[in-house]
Amino acid sequence: MCGIIGYIGIDHVEKYLIEGLKKMEYRGYDSAGICVKDDYLDVVKKSGGIANLEKALLDRKFSGNTGIGHTRWATHGAPNDLNAHPHLSFQSDIAVVHNGIIENYATLKRFLLEKGVRFSSQTDSEVLAHLIESFYTGNLEEAVSKALQNVDGTYGLAVLHRHENKIIAARKGSPLILGIGDSMMMVASDAVPLLDHTNKVIYLEDNDLAVLTRNQYDIMKINGRKVRREIEEIQWNISQIEKRGFKHFMLKEIYEQPEAMRNTLRGRIKGDTIKLSVNFDAEKLNRIVITACGTSWHSALIGKYFMEEILQLPVEVDYASEFRYRTTALAKDDLFIVISQSGETADTLAALRKAKSLGCQTLGIVNVVGSSIARETESGIYLHAGPEIGVASTKAFLCQITSLMLLALAIQQAKGKTISSRMINELEILPEKIQEIIANEKQLRVLAYRLQNATNFLYLGRGVNFPVALEGALKLKEISTIHAEGYPAAEMKHGPIALIDASMPVVFIAPEGKILTKILSNMEEVKARQGQILTITDSQNPKLQELSDHIFMVPKTLEIFTPFLTTVPLQILAYYIADMKGINVDKPRNLAKSVTVE
Ligand code: AGP
Repeated sequence: MCGIIGYIGIDHVEKYLIEGLKKMEYRGYDSAGICVKDDYLDVVKKSGGIANLEKALLDRKFSGNTGIGHTRWATHGAPNDLNAHPHLSFQSDIAVVHNGIIENYATLKRFLLEKGVRFSSQTDSEVLAHLIESFYTGNLEEAVSKALQNVDGTYGLAVLHRHENKIIAARKGSPLILGIGDSMMMVASDAVPLLDHTNKVIYLEDNDLAVLTRNQYDIMKINGRKVRREIEEIQWNISQIEKRGFKHFMLKEIYEQPEAMRNTLRGRIKGDTIKLSVNFDAEKLNRIVITACGTSWHSALIGKYFMEEILQLPVEVDYASEFRYRTTALAKDDLFIVISQSGETADTLAALRKAKSLGCQTLGIVNVVGSSIARETESGIYLHAGPEIGVASTKAFLCQITSLMLLALAIQQAKGKTISSRMINELEILPEKIQEIIANEKQLRVLAYRLQNATNFLYLGRGVNFPVALEGALKLKEISTIHAEGYPAAEMKHGPIALIDASMPVVFIAPEGKILTKILSNMEEVKARQGQILTITDSQNPKLQELSDHIFMVPKTLEIFTPFLTTVPLQILAYYIADMKGINVDKPRNLAKSVTVE
């Protein structure tokens, strides 16, 4: 997820651009850049945060009052100066800033290379600058319209031409908002950077294209048909909007999960075929080893259940910190997978380097593009979840298990086996089911209120929901400082049952399934010791209803897919318990977003 901004007016433009980018840095901070339209397009762009860009601008003077800017969350191409936006066209007549993913950029790039265009970056976005230029015959909006009709994917973009005093803005799948001012117009990825200058905005809709001049705006569909869009007045203040009205980034990221999961899936399922470019020899694959830390280790455990069920292959999961010091027997035909949201966790990186020294094939499942782990693995799957700011991982976890499911299906396909279209169809509608859960968050707020004073929690699950029990316990303990343990439900009898009394909430993750009756026995054992039971389930089983003190229902899905749904209420429960305890959920005690130390 990146932040883009544009200004056309009567003032010097750079202050609008820089201040605006600063207010969108939470959308991405890999690199930043601006383009000011003088008698040429003057571009300054730097890797790193906005502060690096400001240093580069110290000795620069601009006279223009039209410009665009960008702060990047890398999706294609490492976060360096060359890959930073704005991108210039081959003749340097056009500048583009883009937020989104151009799925057919490789095809477009080949077409442009054959026309003699030379590229300067590894990004998909640069294609847009050259493509628009290839259609330009004197009218910028026409050229942008023709170019976008050849693009598959998502975009929020702003475009300048060195000889035209206007900004063209267009969106499909990535947000874009116009700011309507006096003798000035702005465009931005969200409302934050506009609020200093106007509270009159227009939310562009998918396939809208806007032409902005100093005193006027025109909006049309990309096929040229003019449309009218209402001007709305924003009531929020800036501090709220940075989190788009959410009190914490963690809650915002929980809410973003349906869209984040769609972004992970986007372009990777075509009909009943998985389109995942991972270069390892699936035919010879005998064993899979997955290492990670924390929440990513929990997603690895879920991946184990996915792969063993779908591939009938042995899958070993290990803490990265343990793997790196263990004497291990890795064969060159093993597939070694590392999972890391940040791509910089020291133990996970060390485990990867050890595996590479043992000669086996490596694959990274990473969110941060161009991170160390992304660069050092032979192949990989980017989550495309957008920046995850909250220390407690939520949307990244969901996108990690999405990626693991896609990988399992891709390996099954590479082995010449047919993929179940029922699984594919269900996978694609899971985001809507997650949305249903989020819509019922009020019930979880009530549960959080009732359980917030407990000092110990036990989370119990079986099978593919055992790692969900671990993840639910980690979410609670890392942000609320309440002690919580996750266990396989059957293991309760081998120790933890000694802890159970009326003051200890026991959270059962108990969806309908082949082992529900076994979980009901565990619930009986807890009930017999006055334990309080909260059950996360999709089952109307009368015994389950009778034994549970609190129930939160999730939509039904295939049993193997239940973690996609059972995890979400546990994230929300942990969030509200911590928030009710007055804790800064985004910066919990003693924790950092990325543990780059051993
Ligand atoms: C999870 O909520 C924690 N923030 C932590 O356990 C995290 O998952 C772990 O440090 C691994 O981080 P990574 O995914 O960036 O490697």
